[in-house]
Amino acid sequence: MKTTVEAVAWHDDHLRILDQRRLPQEEVYLDLHEVSAVAQAIREMAVRGAPAIGITAAYGVVLAARNRYRLSPATWRTDVEADLALLAATRPTAVNLFWALKQLRTAIETLPVGDPGADLLATAQGIHTSDIADNHRMGALGAALFDGEGDVITHCNAGSLATGGYGTALGVIRTAYANRRIKQVYADETRPWLQGARLTTWELARDNIPVTLITEGAAAHLMATRPIQWVVVGADRIAANGDTANKIGTYPLAIAARYHGVRFMVVAPTSTLDMERANGGLIPIEIRPSEEILTFSGTSIAAPGVQAWNPAFDITPASLIDAIVTERGVVFAPNQEKMAALKVATPFGTIVQSVC
Ligand code: MRU
Repeated sequence: MKTTVEAVAWHDDHLRILDQRRLPQEEVYLDLHEVSAVAQAIREMAVRGAPAIGITAAYGVVLAARNRYRLSPATWRTDVEADLALLAATRPTAVNLFWALKQLRTAIETLPVGDPGADLLATAQGIHTSDIADNHRMGALGAALFDGEGDVITHCNAGSLATGGYGTALGVIRTAYANRRIKQVYADETRPWLQGARLTTWELARDNIPVTLITEGAAAHLMATRPIQWVVVGADRIAANGDTANKIGTYPLAIAARYHGVRFMVVAPTSTLDMERANGGLIPIEIRPSEEILTFSGTSIAAPGVQAWNPAFDITPASLIDAIVTERGVVFAPNQEKMAALKVATPFGTIVQSVC
């Protein structure tokens, strides 16, 4: 099953992104020609979702290098470092951002003398197309874990909008639905940016996949009263032991799932693995502005002057995760040893460890 939503695209000589802050009311595209505009679009959530952030940043480096080269062909390689730093400072938790910047920096270091535009564009487009291919592989691997037809809960948006296309968690859901393994998807609304309410329902409805919106607070009650087979989520960063950073509200969902005997699946490409962080406690958690939870659509919803704490992500311990699905294979009951085995190249479809 194909999806037509394109969150990020190289268009002629510049980057075009779908402004996700305006969805689902309006489909508005932003044309970005400067790295500063790309950094702003990432920071202010016009584009979001770890893999989509990484791809956008990669194209941002293309714009930056091209513009730096035009200004000063002799010093562009040094000058562009400031642009890489600007992009790196946008969203601290999404490790795909740093992974993509590393790929582009390596390309910059090995480029011959001359205009870097075409070579760097090829690198960025390679990252983009591989991400889509990885999502289709993960879709097949994750969908194979469903027994019969059941219902699923997903959190935030880990779909086409959050990736190069097709999606991680929503890629699994798309494939499983096409294979008649899913009857109903429940989408958590996902406070405060409402990625579930605004983006996941929009994406799934476009594909005619039955989706029902719930508040986060309704998830445990849903598990207690309906036959939910899997919770399926994406990830912003996975530590070496399998602990997973994802949108705030994922951790309580995993606790509720374990209590109710519902299985919990994380779907993420290996570009989301951070083997340098031994565990989730070492993953930097983005704290976003208080205004995001003190206001709703520009209207104040809390007592005047009250303080707010707004972590954008939480850490789900590996012990609460039944399966991590990557493009290289599935890790059941993840731990440090199994995650390390995954990093060693394994062919498509390899089951790294069977259920313990
Ligand atoms: O703050 P966001 O919208 O960028 O958070 C997105 C998520 O938490 C996603 O689940 C994660 O990035 C995986 S997207 C394939």
